[in-house]
Amino acid sequence: MNDRIRIEYSGLIPFLQEGEIEAMEESVQRALQSLQEGSGPGGEYTGWLRYPESIPASEVRRMETLAEEIRAEADAFVVIGIGGSYLGARAIIEGLGPAFPPLLPPDRLKGPLVFFAGQNLSGAYLEELLEVLEDRSVYINMISKSGTTTEPGLAFRALRKHLTERYGRKGAAQRIITTTDAARGALRKVTEEEGYRSFVIPDDIGGRFSVLTPVGLFPIAVAGIPIDTLVDGAASMIEPCGRPALSRNPAALYAAARNLLLGKGYSTEILVSYDPKLQYFAEWWKQLFAESEGKDGKGIFPASVLFTSDLHSMGQWIQEGRRTIFETVIHMEREDSTLQVPVDASGLEDGLGYLEGRTWTEIQDKAYEGTKMAHHQGGVPILVLEAPARDAFTLGQMIQFFESACGISGYLLGVNPFNQPGVEAYKQNMFALLGKPGFEERAAELRARDRGPSGGKLV
Ligand code: PA5
Repeated sequence: MNDRIRIEYSGLIPFLQEGEIEAMEESVQRALQSLQEGSGPGGEYTGWLRYPESIPASEVRRMETLAEEIRAEADAFVVIGIGGSYLGARAIIEGLGPAFPPLLPPDRLKGPLVFFAGQNLSGAYLEELLEVLEDRSVYINMISKSGTTTEPGLAFRALRKHLTERYGRKGAAQRIITTTDAARGALRKVTEEEGYRSFVIPDDIGGRFSVLTPVGLFPIAVAGIPIDTLVDGAASMIEPCGRPALSRNPAALYAAARNLLLGKGYSTEILVSYDPKLQYFAEWWKQLFAESEGKDGKGIFPASVLFTSDLHSMGQWIQEGRRTIFETVIHMEREDSTLQVPVDASGLEDGLGYLEGRTWTEIQDKAYEGTKMAHHQGGVPILVLEAPARDAFTLGQMIQFFESACGISGYLLGVNPFNQPGVEAYKQNMFALLGKPGFEERAAELRARDRGPSGGKLV
């Protein structure tokens, strides 16, 4: 059994011609070199490339010690953040945690129940969360690199009030841990004023590349997941993803293949997984590629599906819709479950007798093989990420692999993969519409512009 993830691309035949990937060698090497040397656009944000092997041991210990305290004291832990300050932690906590945590007896849980807030502006969501927290011992981790993002900032206000009312200002301060910039932003200021315990986000690592810094690692540790193994998995991919030879570098191969496919009109990439616990891993992946590549009128649209559920919804489109999609399938080589289809002695004819005694894993594997063949025949190019198992070491590898591939791919595409200027547009409008001081001119502009094709009338 291989313990390293690998990229398998035989499913690109006949969509790519022989030698096409190899012909990318020179441009990929240039992209890789810019990334490694930090000489490309946004090169000052490539600290994540080597962070898994240079993360200070004392920082890991501090996270583990504080996580232990919280596991002993809390039965609810709220992670507040949005985008890159949220998705990585959720991907790993849900990817490696139990499927039904609130319904498990406490002794089966490895940590407190983990809740997420600040990733939306739904008052109803927050109200229900506050209600659930009412009778529980609560700790919170407020995460924001800029320290000024509206969604988490507002959720933090509401949760801080909740904690202050229950534990007093000093008691609340003991239960609030912040993760933010070393010096800048409102959150750092509040942290210093209130004496919150806090972690620092390295300057040279941006939000969506920060899951293996305290942004992701601390909440993951609170959930009882071994962060050292996750980091080791990531560190083990640094060398392979930095190899200059395209044929020996899985991240470069993946980046080259997806850019070639884009050039042939395959402009949507679907990340496929068969494991419902990987749903948030796909959300993390979507954010990584969407914010990194979707700019300057360029980019591959990143989508995701969960099979076999989505074979009964998106499957039809994938099989027979417009031929602009390609798939990247996460295939776990080892599944935990040995559950077998039970023998049914009732004599009922449900037509499933031929599956008796076979495991769900075996059946799922046939679904995987059958789907791959069907989609390939239907005109969908397929890349497969062969992964040993859904465990901390493998997911660590997958994070480092996708981040490296994203950096290379962004440079191949000719964009700065480390900025996100487009995210500002909605914020500016929202601030103007909310009457934030300083946005008066924008508000006037919006009022003048707000005339739909029907003259603003409802039809
Ligand atoms: O990847 C990114 O940089 C973004 O998605 C940010 O993580 C997100 O906007 C949240 O920003 P902040 O951590 O400053 O609150």
